[in-house]
Amino acid sequence: MDILDIVSNRLKWLPKGVARFIEKKAKAIPSVQKTIEKETAGMLEEIEAGLKPYRGKFPVFPTFPKEGRSREEILAEMEEFNKIESPRWADGYVSGAVYHGDPEHIDFLNQVYALNSQSNPLHSDLWPSATKFEAEIVSMTAHMMGKGQPEVKDDICGSVSSGGTESICLAMKTYRDWARETKGITAPEMILPTTAHAAFDKAAHYYGIKQVRIPIGEDFRADLKALKNAITPNTIVIVGSAPAFPHGIVDPIEEMSEMALAAGVGFHTDSCLGGFVLPWAEQLGYAIEKHDFRLPGVTSMSVDTHKYGYAAKGTSVVLYRNPELRQFQYYTTTEWPGGLYFSPTFAGSRPGALSAACWAAMVSIGEKGYLEASDRIMKTAIQIKEGIRSIPELRLLGDPHFVIAFASDQLNIYRVSDEMTHKGWNLNGLHKPSCIHLAVTLRHTQEGVADRFIADLKASVAEVIAHPKASGGNAPVYGMAANIPFRGMVSDILKKYMDAVYKV
Ligand SMILES: Cc1ncc(COP(=O)(O)O)c(C=O)c1O
Repeated sequence: MDILDIVSNRLKWLPKGVARFIEKKAKAIPSVQKTIEKETAGMLEEIEAGLKPYRGKFPVFPTFPKEGRSREEILAEMEEFNKIESPRWADGYVSGAVYHGDPEHIDFLNQVYALNSQSNPLHSDLWPSATKFEAEIVSMTAHMMGKGQPEVKDDICGSVSSGGTESICLAMKTYRDWARETKGITAPEMILPTTAHAAFDKAAHYYGIKQVRIPIGEDFRADLKALKNAITPNTIVIVGSAPAFPHGIVDPIEEMSEMALAAGVGFHTDSCLGGFVLPWAEQLGYAIEKHDFRLPGVTSMSVDTHKYGYAAKGTSVVLYRNPELRQFQYYTTTEWPGGLYFSPTFAGSRPGALSAACWAAMVSIGEKGYLEASDRIMKTAIQIKEGIRSIPELRLLGDPHFVIAFASDQLNIYRVSDEMTHKGWNLNGLHKPSCIHLAVTLRHTQEGVADRFIADLKASVAEVIAHPKASGGNAPVYGMAANIPFRGMVSDILKKYMDAVYKV
């Protein structure tokens, strides 16, 4: 048994605060420090080897090449990377990541990108087309989320951002500034279920907002009683997900947003993951929980075009119930010698080509295309859920739509995941509770992919039953990360991982 096993197995009963205290003290003892360094060094070596598979196989450039390389050579090298990296996602072995992926769709987006590669929405005078694309992206998304419906009288509006994280951070900053200006709140708090995306942690960290995490119930949805108790005079916003990333479950948005309305605070529905599936699935007659602006308490939403909107990576939409709220997102300065400066989102200059490609994806797919795509995804997800239910050693978590998490009461689920990795799959490992998930995309709706997933899953479970004690793979790392009470140490390892990313 190594130190991490010992620590994680023996000390998991420790309360968090005590663990933090002991960790600080223990790290100050040279012998403990040395053991930790030795353990992490071994782990990091493995991590780095995984991160840098091209070392020794392709030329590296820690400094500029003396002479520029030929374009042909560069393109040929990229073709090689592409050949190595594409088959796994293209053949439907990957959870999430690439949501459309048909070659004709990709070629079309690439053509659009090429035509717009110089465009920058910061210079709306030079590229009014970028302004047109972004206004229409926001408007189409707002209408998908309830704008124009009889019960929605407000002028739902928003901005195009670079991704889900930016949309979420923008919304949280907006609430912070709104609450300070309109209510004088200087110690703002956001309330969110444990399952809400890590981007909210980031926003809380960046903008000085206290996070109040509330538990989820046995159905993996936010606990409403805990929410009621968590509201204070400093609450600025309540967050719910439709659905949440870990288990793909939609929170009770209707009840949560009603509480927000009654308390006079904002309510944000994070629909980054589900935004471009659930509205169409509802139109198709699937039982989808209400989560958009048709609920009067919902004041903002995040909806990712670069996931199930099938745009290229790098765009998302943040929506607000009215332009008055959106004002708090904007930044303007009038005193800079560089001129009057204003920008709606965090970046200054932005890639207009990505907005063009996003717009092109949306108008080329159209309502009919999104309906068909969502139907294929929902049907494939039903088939996969049935397959998982047929494996007695596995247990589905909650009642998900198309992001499907499962655990096991008998087996180490991370070992099952490792076996799936050996068969070519790339699933998401989650913890608290230990489980893995598959986010069903259009790649999985290809002929035979769902059947292959279930067959491989059955074989993986059988393999783990046959060899319960096998070691190696990611299982020990996940086990450690989930159980170790020394969270500071886990955090240090994550930072070292990021250091490794930037090593040549
Ligand atoms: C529910 C949810 N919110 C937010 C995000 C963050 O999105 P991004 O990775 O585009 O920043 C994700 C990403 O998977 C998500 O699933």
